Amino acid sequence: MLKVRNLTKYFGGLGAVRDLSFKVEKGQIFGLIGPNGAGKTTVFNLINGFYPPSSGEILFKGEPITGLKPNVICKKGIARTFQVVKPLSRMTLLENVMASAFCRVNGVSEAKEEALKTLEFCALIHRKDYLAKSLTIGDRKRMEIARALATRPEIILLDETAAGLNPTELDQAIALIKKIRERGVTVLIVEHIMKVIMSISDRILAINYGQTIAEGTPQEVANNKAVIEAYLGEAYA
Ligand SMILES: Nc1ncnc2c1ncn2[C@@H]1O[C@H](COP(=O)(O)OP(=O)(O)OP(=O)(O)O)[C@@H](O)[C@H]1O
Ligand SMILES: [Mg+2]
Repeated sequence: MLKVRNLTKYFGGLGAVRDLSFKVEKGQIFGLIGPNGAGKTTVFNLINGFYPPSSGEILFKGEPITGLKPNVICKKGIARTFQVVKPLSRMTLLENVMASAFCRVNGVSEAKEEALKTLEFCALIHRKDYLAKSLTIGDRKRMEIARALATRPEIILLDETAAGLNPTELDQAIALIKKIRERGVTVLIVEHIMKVIMSISDRILAINYGQTIAEGTPQEVANNKAVIEAYLGEAYA
């Protein structure tokens, strides 16, 4: 579904992503972990075309997408959420999701229908007429997922969508991510909450300073010495 080859991104002299390679299979939940500043969000920004890479290649279903514009990449079937949620705050939740739906449909009524279905799927329909700015952080995070799903992606990139959630909301978030995969959407997820990432990922890639330090099953990565030293800490191990 997605192949990243020797991906590198420099911001001036800072190598945020360095020679990173990995692949995500269709139907997988693929976790990306690493300490603050490891380069996780930058990887997303490169995949979805926010930044062009300094070098390296990104292939989506075998086709190179490196350097394409975000709207073109979205149309091809790659959607992402943002770590820092930036809704259209004076529009309602429904309107926010409708704005995304226009990626696939043309008419207002079709966009509304698509948005309503998506909100139903995300268990947010009861909030549809709330202004985005009045939503709780939990609902905002869920709105972010709904906005991405309304573009009907084949793969969704989730950037810390569980951060700031209470325990009940965390369980709901885990259930929603599983439901997204059941719907046939491949998931690439960045998350610091171990309960989430370890319980839902099929494979995990751990990075530090923009480079791979380990890759494997959640069990393998959790027991990896380099991952424990750089990220998890002895207490976790
Ligand atoms: N637009 C930018 N300009 C300059 N430096 C940047 C830019 N974006 C990211 N960086 C730097 O690149 C490095 C990787 O940042 P990134 O946001 O990808 O980390 P992250 O793994 O997502 O961290 P966190 O877990 O805190 O979200 C950091 O040192 C960051 O300061
Ligand atoms: Mg980040």
